[in-house]
Amino acid sequence: MGMGMDLNKRGESGESSGESSHYLDDAFELNDVLSPVQRLIAIHDEIRHTQSLADVTRIAIALFDSKSRRLKTFIRSGTKDSPLDHYTASLDDIPSLLEVAKLKRPRVVDDLGMFHASPSVHSTKLLSHGFRSSLTVPIFHHGELFGFLFFNSEKAACFTDVVAHQLIPYARTIALFAINEMQQIRVLQAAVKTAREITHLRDDETGGHLDRMARYSRLMALNLAAKQGFDDEFVEYVYQFAPLHDIGKVGIPDNILLKPGRLTEEEFAVMREHVDKGIAIIDAMRRDFDLDSLSHVQMLRNIVAYHHEAIDGSGYPKGLKGHQIPIEARIVSVADVFDALTSARPYKHAWSPEAAFEFLHSAKGLRFDPDCIHALEEGMAEIRAIQAQFAESPLG
Ligand SMILES: [Fe+2]
Ligand SMILES: [Fe+2]
Repeated sequence: MGMGMDLNKRGESGESSGESSHYLDDAFELNDVLSPVQRLIAIHDEIRHTQSLADVTRIAIALFDSKSRRLKTFIRSGTKDSPLDHYTASLDDIPSLLEVAKLKRPRVVDDLGMFHASPSVHSTKLLSHGFRSSLTVPIFHHGELFGFLFFNSEKAACFTDVVAHQLIPYARTIALFAINEMQQIRVLQAAVKTAREITHLRDDETGGHLDRMARYSRLMALNLAAKQGFDDEFVEYVYQFAPLHDIGKVGIPDNILLKPGRLTEEEFAVMREHVDKGIAIIDAMRRDFDLDSLSHVQMLRNIVAYHHEAIDGSGYPKGLKGHQIPIEARIVSVADVFDALTSARPYKHAWSPEAAFEFLHSAKGLRFDPDCIHALEEGMAEIRAIQAQFAESPLG
């Protein structure tokens, strides 16, 4: 009752004050999906328009990967070219950040130049780009370290207590949207994992394959970044979405999926349907999980749809050629095949990386993007580290 009365009242007052109403400049369209970078830039704009915060010229987030204990740059704002793009480091090698994480408290550095005794790569790079002071905020989610938020200024001692306190609500907002974005990806990955388990999917895609091929994809995206103009956000999404490439296999019958020997032509035709089934699953998830609020969903769809296309047009399902195939799909297909070649399967031994590259090169220009092969080959040391960390257990 009370609510109804309130509603009526509002209606009346709305009508009576009609003449004094006006429109605001900003319309917002809720279907507009901003990527994390775009959101960060929007918040930074707001911060810069606050007079006391006008000297904050760079905001950045680095994500913490608890499996490898590495930090990786993710998104940043600021017009200057960034000192730390495509940067990763072990958290344990950065004592100052380790300390911030342990204390779980933001830290202010008034003059980055004062760290002469043991300058970290991080502060040295910032200094060389003219940044003088910083506020570092550790981000935790469910008690686990999620990453760090960095505010930088070209002015020394920019982050007074007053400024730091003004920035904290913004820091919360930024941390929240970053966590929310990653959380959505995790929900998606968990949904796919559950679907695989329910359908007893036990094919080559189990074990370390997904861990390794996601990291190979990331490595390639990083090594291609300068040439292709990828930012760290792009690199991170390739890494997050790569393991979902074969999501459509949950729809392939066991007798074909798990068949130990070679597939017949007919069986292979059924197997190829995993791509269309995967697209259907992504589209259903977009609808049912409200995935459209997740940015870069198109990249995910491209990876699922085109990871079996070949440069020469001999792939499936569309027979696209060369640059018609989105770069994220070209990356994932090389990572996927490289890992298949270098892994032991019931019917074959694991190839050495060298032998695998020889094979990829021999098919170069035919099936795989040569730039992608080179991008992977450049990272031989990382390949070996990934193989060592995500080795198959002898028990399979
Ligand atoms: Fe596939
Ligand atoms: Fe795969």
